[in-house]
Amino acid sequence: MTDSGSGDATDQRGGTGVLAWVDARLPVVTGFRHEYIDYRTPRNLNGLWNFGAILTVVLLVMLATGIFLAVNYTPTAAGAFASVEAIERQLPSGWLLRSIHVTGASLFLAALYIHLFRGLYYGSYKRPREILWLTGLLLLVMVMFTAFAGYVLPWGQMSYWGADVAGKAVDAIPFVGPWLEHFLQGGDAPGDVSLHRFFVLHFVLAFAVLGVVVLHVAALHVTGSNNPLGIEPKGPRDTLTFHPYYTSKDALGMILFALLFAALVFFLPHVVFEAENFRPANPLHTPADIEPEWYFLPFYGMLQSVPSKFGGLLAAVGSILILFLVPWLDRSPIRSARFRPFYRVCMVLLVLCFILLGFVGRHHAEGGWMIAGRIALVYYFAHFLVLLPLSARTERHVVLPESIAAAQGHHATGHDA
Ligand code: HEM
Repeated sequence: MTDSGSGDATDQRGGTGVLAWVDARLPVVTGFRHEYIDYRTPRNLNGLWNFGAILTVVLLVMLATGIFLAVNYTPTAAGAFASVEAIERQLPSGWLLRSIHVTGASLFLAALYIHLFRGLYYGSYKRPREILWLTGLLLLVMVMFTAFAGYVLPWGQMSYWGADVAGKAVDAIPFVGPWLEHFLQGGDAPGDVSLHRFFVLHFVLAFAVLGVVVLHVAALHVTGSNNPLGIEPKGPRDTLTFHPYYTSKDALGMILFALLFAALVFFLPHVVFEAENFRPANPLHTPADIEPEWYFLPFYGMLQSVPSKFGGLLAAVGSILILFLVPWLDRSPIRSARFRPFYRVCMVLLVLCFILLGFVGRHHAEGGWMIAGRIALVYYFAHFLVLLPLSARTERHVVLPESIAAAQGHHATGHDA
């Protein structure tokens, strides 16, 4: 008789029950406890550290609502618009699920920008968190492609003409541009083939994002979180267990975020839905104003601020690529902008320029907007290529707090571990 252990649910660690049996063979419970309950986290994280958890939950909501939309959607130029209308008007709660998906996309990108600028401000990209930063940027790029592909799917006027503008941007690449545009689009203009490809891309990338999030969070748990002071925890006094302290903080952040989400879905749908996209795609009628979703506007502003089309494309693509170099462009020994007065001013200007470029995108970089766009664009690149490396020189002698607990006024007592 073989010893299958079937009659005995006791594992080597002494626990009983099904979970203990599974855990002894695949430590899901121990792993979860280790990574999300007993996990030590700096005690001073502020509200900006809520956005990673918010992003994770919104991603799951997007996948769930997306599957529902996908099973009712027709990825053909003739059927797409009508199938989305049917979801809105005929399927029970279809309007709600679609509204959650569309609002979720906007709020996901908003949370992503906050998450990214938080990392830049507090120097979370610095050693030893470079891979965390790089996986984050990979997520940014993947999410942008996913959002763009998703926007094309309803095959409304903006979907069609947005795809057309993107195709024209690719077309501007010297030598290979026209061939590449034709290859990606599957024809001379957006049509059936492109729509089918966008659908597959949207679906596949969305799930791939989930996979990269797992890597991102795994990398985070190797180094632990950075914090607003930018100094590493020196002992148990500088940290708290993830549960109950950060589970409750994250829950509060999510409730506030959910309130905003619900307000948009139920009371302000026009904020996230573009009226022009309720007209079916018409290749013979160009809308007066072709404009991407708000979250692409800063890049659209960059595209337009440069006189040459290819130059504009290089600027927009370069503005993302340059972020991959940040851990190596910034040589300062200090992480957090809290102790870097010069860098702090530069960061504020960077955010202002990014927002300004968004307005430039909205105003099609004409007249004064063109000049503003060019100044903001030059600042954007100067920030990373000149000011960031320079700032390191002014910060060699900064004195940092002795520890996180000490900075918060908690001094060592005989009871401390
Ligand atoms: C799908 C998108 C993303 C998800 C779901 C996600 C998720 C998370 C989570 C759960 C955390 C821990 C909580 C927190 O610090 O807020 C985190 C931390 C972090 N993420 Fe992301 N992230 C995403 C995209 C990005 C992007 C685009 C970047 C930047 C390029 C980035 C950079 C970082 C950094 C540097 C940290 C550590 C921050 C610190 O401890 O100071 N992430 N992320």
